[in-house]
Amino acid sequence: MSKRDSNSTGNFMKLKRRRYNNFSIERKIKENIFTPPRIKSVIVKDAGKLELSYVPDKILCRDEEIKKLQVFLKSGRVLISGGVGTGKTLLARYAGGDAYINCYMNKTEHRVLEEMLRQLKPRFNPAGLPTQKLWNEIEEGKTVIIDEIDGMNADELRHFAYSLSRQYELGKRINYIAITRNHFILEQIINDDAIWSTFADRAIVELKPYTFEEIKEILEYRARESIHPGAYDDEILSLIADMALHSPGHMRTAIDLLRNAALMAESNGRNSITPDDVREVNREEWISDIESMEKDALMVLLSVAMACKNKAYASKEEIMEMLGVKEEEYGIKIGGKKAEEILQILVQQDFVYRGERGYTILNYPVHLLMEELDRRLREHMQ
Ligand SMILES: Nc1ncnc2c1ncn2[C@@H]1O[C@H](COP(=O)(O)OP(=O)(O)OP(=O)(O)O)[C@@H](O)[C@H]1O
Ligand SMILES: [Mg+2]
Repeated sequence: MSKRDSNSTGNFMKLKRRRYNNFSIERKIKENIFTPPRIKSVIVKDAGKLELSYVPDKILCRDEEIKKLQVFLKSGRVLISGGVGTGKTLLARYAGGDAYINCYMNKTEHRVLEEMLRQLKPRFNPAGLPTQKLWNEIEEGKTVIIDEIDGMNADELRHFAYSLSRQYELGKRINYIAITRNHFILEQIINDDAIWSTFADRAIVELKPYTFEEIKEILEYRARESIHPGAYDDEILSLIADMALHSPGHMRTAIDLLRNAALMAESNGRNSITPDDVREVNREEWISDIESMEKDALMVLLSVAMACKNKAYASKEEIMEMLGVKEEEYGIKIGGKKAEEILQILVQQDFVYRGERGYTILNYPVHLLMEELDRRLREHMQ
């Protein structure tokens, strides 16, 4: 048989097999005996509830701010100001708006208005119309959310803020919730007392960063909604809260870590989240820094890692106990007092984290760290 013949026979066979399979599935569906395979999630109950765009039924720890927001909104204008992940977008969405515009995506007044109208009047075509005509199209009484307003180009922002607040003076009220990360900087960008005073003065809701306890409380609520009970515990949420407290993403980081740790545990075939799943999704690449570490520091760091191998936090006593075991194993004697000093230095250098619940490693999986430290210590011993 020629090569060509054998190939065409091969293709034919493949074709036949596929057709046969399709036929059999179709028949099974017809006969109602085919059930598509379903992967049942053992950890994540509802991933959608950890999406950034999801608005939970309750917003915890912001009662005063919500009250203030509602009072300001009665007079039609409010500026929410707060750092990353303090819940600005959530609060605005919770209060509700007829249109939501993000100004990092829409940097000019014209683009912002086009986007507003796309949402408010889906049938309206704004193509080629001047900015003033677009303003005229926005109906009185609508509420618009203008997120990350400082993402607009400075001149555009100034003019937009002016036009928006002027609509009110012209007898047409368009309600707005504007959002910024820093109202002082926004005021500087606008750089005009008259515009600022009509736009946002005395209508600012400031969101302070959450405390550890608040992050924990919010996480408990969000985890209850989205993760199966038994797949996480109080220690896991504390560990995530500690990570979030020390990250620039704050509550945003907390929700991301919860979701990613759950997915990580699930993809590893486990039915609950371990501290190392959380450390893995919060991993930073600092491991090469241990190359220049003295062996005594390596020993103490290894003891911390060993002590939190299967848990989120370890006490100083547990670390020192572990050090005793490791001193025997490696034949290196450090002694309690010196070890405690080294532990403090490791905390100052951010290798080890000391939270209210004890010592821990925040940003590297402990089982991998132990392997690296062991390798390094053995090199020292040679
Ligand atoms: N009080 C809260 N209760 C429940 N969930 C919260 C609360 N605060 C924040 N979150 C959640 O934390 C995440 C970050 O919040 P949000 O996106 O509103 O922050 P932000 O201040 O707008 O951050 P950025 O400056 O990065 O835009 C979201 O998933 C949000 O649902
Ligand atoms: Mg936001």
